[in-house]
Amino acid sequence: MKHVLRSGQFTRESLEELFKLADDVKLNPKKYADSLDGKIVSVMFFEPSTRTRMSFESAILRLGGKIIVTENAGSNSSATKGETLEDTIRVLSGYCDAIVMRHSRDDAAEVAAKVSSVPILNAGSGKGEHPTQSLLDMYTIREKRGKIDGVKVAILGDLVYGRTIHSLLTLLCLYDNVEVYGLSKEAFALPEKYITMLKEHGIDYKVCKSFDEIPKDVDVLYHTRIQAERFEGDFGKEEYIINKEILNQFSKDTIILHPLPRVNEISDDIDDDPRAMYFKQAHNGIPIRMSLLLQVLNKA
Ligand code: NCD
Repeated sequence: MKHVLRSGQFTRESLEELFKLADDVKLNPKKYADSLDGKIVSVMFFEPSTRTRMSFESAILRLGGKIIVTENAGSNSSATKGETLEDTIRVLSGYCDAIVMRHSRDDAAEVAAKVSSVPILNAGSGKGEHPTQSLLDMYTIREKRGKIDGVKVAILGDLVYGRTIHSLLTLLCLYDNVEVYGLSKEAFALPEKYITMLKEHGIDYKVCKSFDEIPKDVDVLYHTRIQAERFEGDFGKEEYIINKEILNQFSKDTIILHPLPRVNEISDDIDDDPRAMYFKQAHNGIPIRMSLLLQVLNKA
């Protein structure tokens, strides 16, 4: 059975296969309109979501599948009565053909996959991983550059609790001549284990102290929101804000990505700049999630 649990399960080849399918889905959506005919996909979100959930739901519907949903699983499912995640999944997997799940536990997707009789698609697990987001991030970078080898990426914001960052770095490790720069408040600096992971793949992570230290020809400025819901205490708001003045210091080919939602990391005065690709990035969630569903349900 195919699951989508973590970014580390992908290879360069499986990514390219997924991206080619996503290209085709984008170009010929009608071809796939009945692919999930007769299939039911369960959408179970124990944490808030707008993009991930709605784009998964849209992807399922665009493929002709049906959806069953627990509205706000954190407060409305039997988890509130003390049911274990394992039992919820054991039962749910008898009701559907695949489960899209978001949960606050870092190990939630693995735990679910162990007991599920249908594919699990991890839509975000704690501070650990958000593989489907990183797939659409990489797809967006590939769309802009035509390739990923040699990409220079600056990661900003919450590098500790930002699961999209962790999944993205894992995928970047698959490519050659990648450069990664980090700019964050000290409290949100990239944890050592990810620096080690990058090093093991020949990527020398460079910590920057200001925008000035990020090379001006960087391909991607990838900003993220401080994940205030994941820690106690108040570390204040983001200090490193991308606005017109900052963006204009960078190359005309530097793109801005952000998994969204943004709080104050990117000022809206750059939204109309062609380099601001975060809305296009969010829309790429549709072909990528359609393609993942086709693959796990053996309809590709
Ligand atoms: C991200 C998440 O949930 O990790 N959002 C998303 O899925 N696009 C980022 C965030 O919430 O800050």
